Amino acid sequence: MWNKTQATELLKIKYPIIQGPFGGTFSSVKLVSIVSNLGGMGSFGLNSYSPVEILEIDKEIKQLTNKTYALNLWVPLKNDPADNYEKKDFEELKKLFKPYFDKMKIPLPEIPNPKTQDFEMQIESILKTKPPVASFIFGIPPKEIISELKRRGITSMATATTLEEAVMIEEAGIDFVVASGSEAGGHRASFIKLAEESLTSTHLLIHQVVDNVNIPVIAAGGISNGRDIADILKLGASAAQIGTAFLATNESNASTIHKSKLLSNEPIKTDLTKVYTGRLARAISNNLSKDFEKKNNERIAPYPIQSAFLKPLRKISIEQNKLDYVAFWSGQPSSILKYKSANQLFNSLVYEFLEIS
Ligand SMILES: Cc1cc2nc3c(=O)[nH]c(=O)nc-3n(C[C@H](O)[C@H](O)[C@H](O)COP(=O)(O)O)c2cc1C
Repeated sequence: MWNKTQATELLKIKYPIIQGPFGGTFSSVKLVSIVSNLGGMGSFGLNSYSPVEILEIDKEIKQLTNKTYALNLWVPLKNDPADNYEKKDFEELKKLFKPYFDKMKIPLPEIPNPKTQDFEMQIESILKTKPPVASFIFGIPPKEIISELKRRGITSMATATTLEEAVMIEEAGIDFVVASGSEAGGHRASFIKLAEESLTSTHLLIHQVVDNVNIPVIAAGGISNGRDIADILKLGASAAQIGTAFLATNESNASTIHKSKLLSNEPIKTDLTKVYTGRLARAISNNLSKDFEKKNNERIAPYPIQSAFLKPLRKISIEQNKLDYVAFWSGQPSSILKYKSANQLFNSLVYEFLEIS
């Protein structure tokens, strides 16, 4: 029985299909509940939401589904480079980006001071609302939090981009490891070595992780159809986590233009770049990401400063429909994406799998 895996048993879901969380404001309650109600597991990315908003979102999800779903947070980086960012670094950054601001005829901004949410307070909300699953990216939460999650019966997941990270996740007592190959859309979740030094394809990473850890492995990166799910299950993964294909559906919170780019009839070309946010991430290739393949990336500011610095450039490029400065996040799906409805996408994943198995 293809749809009986360790993940389906432990998560009490019908199919080993997980809609990956989207950070920023790309997740939606509707998408999460549709996927969970269809027998998969929906996930909501909460990195940019306040503790009070987390309580509200969880309440909304619970109103729409009584099935398994996940809430997702970003673990703060140890030795965050943003803590040591200096005025002189910012002057270099301004020089690097002046031509782009000049081209759009807008002034360079002053050094931004972006606020990020307090992880400790966000986790308080998660512990209070007790979602069935709490998933994490960019690291492993402190051991006291892992114990609290266990005490409250909340299943935990954390993302690894290398075998070393997967082993550390298992040793910390997390219940599931999400093995995120370099094809995946959005940020690279690396937290031991630099993301640039932690690029392993989904297939290779699953092989390595399945052979060396005992907790169930969820495969992420480039999975877009039922055949891909069959492949990763054969390799020993317990479920597939799909991001980009769900991001393209009506129910996600991505913009209409973003979705239309993801649903293009041509295979999507992507770049891994730090230029948009200061952390390495996969997005549809454009002139800005291509330019920075050749330029000195050292001068790009760390997250979240880089993202805040580019905000005026993003705003004007959307207003003027010159989309060369906007990040359209995307992975490298194995096939052209065609489903506009989450329901259709989900049913096709199940149907395609059944057809070939
Ligand atoms: C726009 C976007 C935002 C994402 N944000 C998060 C996040 O906040 N937390 C997380 O654990 N994963 C995040 N991911 C990763 C996805 O949940 C998923 O693992 C990944 O997209 C799978 O690869 P695929 O895009 O090739 O399907 C994000 C992915 C995308 C495309």
